[in-house]
Amino acid sequence: MSGVKSLKIALLGCGTVGAQVARILLEDQAELTTRSGAQLELTGIAVRNTSTTRDVEIPAGLFTTDAETLIDGADVVIELLGGLEPAGTYIARALTRGASVITGNKALIAAHGAQLNALAAEHGAQLRYEAAVAGAIPILRPIADSLAGDHITKVMGIVNGTTNFILDAMDSTGAAFDDVLAEAQALGYAEADPTADVGGHDAAAKAAILASLAFHTTVSIDQVHCQGITEITAQDVADAKAAGYVIKLLAIAEKTGSGISARVYPALLDRSHPLGSVRGAFNAVFVEAQNAGDLMFYGAGAGGAPTASAVMGDVVSVARALATGTVLPAASALEAPVLADFAEVTTRYWIGLSVTDQPGMLARIASVFAEHGVSIEAMNQSTAGDGTAHLRMLTHEGSEEALASTIGDLEALDTVASVTSVLRVEGN
Ligand code: HSE
Repeated sequence: MSGVKSLKIALLGCGTVGAQVARILLEDQAELTTRSGAQLELTGIAVRNTSTTRDVEIPAGLFTTDAETLIDGADVVIELLGGLEPAGTYIARALTRGASVITGNKALIAAHGAQLNALAAEHGAQLRYEAAVAGAIPILRPIADSLAGDHITKVMGIVNGTTNFILDAMDSTGAAFDDVLAEAQALGYAEADPTADVGGHDAAAKAAILASLAFHTTVSIDQVHCQGITEITAQDVADAKAAGYVIKLLAIAEKTGSGISARVYPALLDRSHPLGSVRGAFNAVFVEAQNAGDLMFYGAGAGGAPTASAVMGDVVSVARALATGTVLPAASALEAPVLADFAEVTTRYWIGLSVTDQPGMLARIASVFAEHGVSIEAMNQSTAGDGTAHLRMLTHEGSEEALASTIGDLEALDTVASVTSVLRVEGN
């Protein structure tokens, strides 16, 4: 098209997602021009090794090891290197020059999003990161744009495919965590070092980003309470299933009476909850808003082409603004976050106890709950036949502080051999 503005696009990284972004930019150039109103010219791809074989066919002349020169000649920089450095330095360099940046780097945004957003605003550049949360699922733009006229009260997501695959397999086969993790690694669903996924840290980065956008503020990953799934036993999963629940690792951003709570933990969900039906490595995000009511977003949370779809959505959106010379304001005026103390967060709890089966045992346990104002909703007892029993106590809503005191006192009772698990119950 003549008279169409040309935009120079620099791609940093050519891994699973980067290669797919390069493919789409090369294959769909004509259509992308029509959709964005700008000619998108991929000027180069910065990589560590220019002779590595890639997943897709890319002209060799596009590869360079000189990321700085590539960035300095670009209107738009797509950062898909991952990790804090050198990605952070490259993004700052691009924004400082006034180039817009699209990244899928959740770790970087969750740690330094506030500074990078400020840098973008200062230099009239755009910074987008739809691909950083839940892969292909359009969730950040719906939260930041589509729901900008509403009040979000809670966001609750299954945002880590590895852990959902593991918990789903435990639920459907009854297998133990370690066995399912080994299978997930063999199938390529879990990394050789799965710590970031099973420890909840990947989900915590996403929770920080979701909380920041949902509540027009900046929450960083170190402000997210984080607990992973490594302690979940086959018995927990089986007992939850028998009671009509499924265990999911949830990333939660919630506006509570005492401030914003961002937290990640494995929780019981009623099997009929929309998030309860999310199987395998899929992701989903459930949003509660004052006027819209309940919304659910579902799809592939990782993978080359799905994540590239999210990146390309940002590319077209940024290109449209650059083509028309529109200066988009920041998503919202960012307020300083008022964070809730985790001790004040309230949920329902599901507590497993191994106890001595003797007269008065239940009364003593119930009195500990009563002393801390934690009300019991339901209880289930299975007797082992050797003088011990296993109890599962489901509570009404109580604070984390009351829960911690209750657990401490339960552990001190001589009739309680051990507290076998403490899990939260989410969803209505
Ligand atoms: N490791 C993540 C997951 C994908 O298992 O969902 C990238 O965020």
